[in-house]
Amino acid sequence: MTSDALLARDAQYIWHPFTQVGMPSPMLAIIRGEKEFLYDQTGKSYIDAISSWWVNLHGHAHPLIAAAISRQAQVLEHSIFAGCTHEPAVDLAETLINYGTKPFAKVFFSDNGSTAVEVGLKLALQYWFNKSLPDARPQRTKILALEGAYHGDTFGAMAVGARSLFNEPFHELLFDVTFLPTPIAENRQKISAALSRLNFSEYAAIIYEPLLQGAGGMIMHDQEILSEMLLTCREHGVLLLADEVLTGFGRTGKVFASEYFSFMPDLMALSKGITGGFLPLGATLVTQNIEQEFRSPNHSKTFFHGHSYTGSPLACAAANASFKILMTSETQQNIQAIGEAHKDVIPELALVSAIKNLRTVGTVLAMEIETGVGPASGSYTHKIKDVLYQKFISEGVLLRPLGNTLYILPPFCIMKESLDKVYQSIVKVVRSL
Ligand SMILES: Cc1ncc(COP(=O)(O)O)c(C=O)c1O
Repeated sequence: MTSDALLARDAQYIWHPFTQVGMPSPMLAIIRGEKEFLYDQTGKSYIDAISSWWVNLHGHAHPLIAAAISRQAQVLEHSIFAGCTHEPAVDLAETLINYGTKPFAKVFFSDNGSTAVEVGLKLALQYWFNKSLPDARPQRTKILALEGAYHGDTFGAMAVGARSLFNEPFHELLFDVTFLPTPIAENRQKISAALSRLNFSEYAAIIYEPLLQGAGGMIMHDQEILSEMLLTCREHGVLLLADEVLTGFGRTGKVFASEYFSFMPDLMALSKGITGGFLPLGATLVTQNIEQEFRSPNHSKTFFHGHSYTGSPLACAAANASFKILMTSETQQNIQAIGEAHKDVIPELALVSAIKNLRTVGTVLAMEIETGVGPASGSYTHKIKDVLYQKFISEGVLLRPLGNTLYILPPFCIMKESLDKVYQSIVKVVRSL
């Protein structure tokens, strides 16, 4: 089948995510992927410089992960996860719990980043509910979040995200959340003022994307300010819920961004890179302290939550294989090398006058493109977004700006030549605007 025929059928039947239905927009027909490349039907390659929505870690169609899924599929594709268990899920949970300083005691599996967040929010709220039983109503029923946050598209996840165009039709239906200023240097005073006004005893948890707020515009935090903010919350009994859906599995240089801090969160939501980008899977990790409040014969304390594909053996098999690859010295060196390359290229990119606010953390490099077309920054619908996207596609590079925020977030296996090509394409494309 030709690409044109496929695209025509796609246009007839499919409603794509974050895409205006009925408005013709360019669509690539992807036939296969290998390493950092995606290929269309004509054989043209595209460097996947955004790891396909931040999920891919080790390159496309990685043979070890593909083989692990294939082996698993021939033994057990799925079984109900209430009352049944299986080795891939137990192996994965054991790996995640035993990693690093071992702050966590249990893993609750779900299907994606939004559900991993929902589970984290519900567990945090029910922790306080359970604590208040049998006599009282829980006092801590509110959630703190960060301005500009994005935690997913289900209702709870939307509620703890910034109110924006993305969730405008639902604003009235989203539960009330207190948003704290983003932890960056210029907000230091505002943060102290906001914290001093809080009645902490009303709050169950604070949810935050540690160090890097992705969809909100690749905002990079001041680690010290975020650390102080979180410790203040913790001192007042507020649980820390780290959303590491994006930052987890190496993106910020360490396996988890939370490892940059002198303390670990009480709950951690994981997804995206967990399976190396092969299959959807969510995981919410909790400490013993949280789990303890659910250990009871009292059914009111049960966590009544589950998804049909919870703990999918195929997804867990992929995750186990991916984690092994992540921990190899080769991958760890690649992660460091990408970080170094980003730092090294900043002075060259800074020479392009329309490139502003260059910043990097781990394997992520971000910048704003300011050309005088449209507002200086901000909106996701900024006109420059589609222009940049198309120009990069012509260059054979897949970069999908968030408004006028351009970022590189590559698979860890990306070759030096490919990374250089991405940098050079940015210089060429931005200069051509
Ligand atoms: C930090 C963060 N949390 C949660 C999500 C939601 O994940 P999913 O798209 O898998 O539902 C995303 C997605 O971009 C994210 O970046």
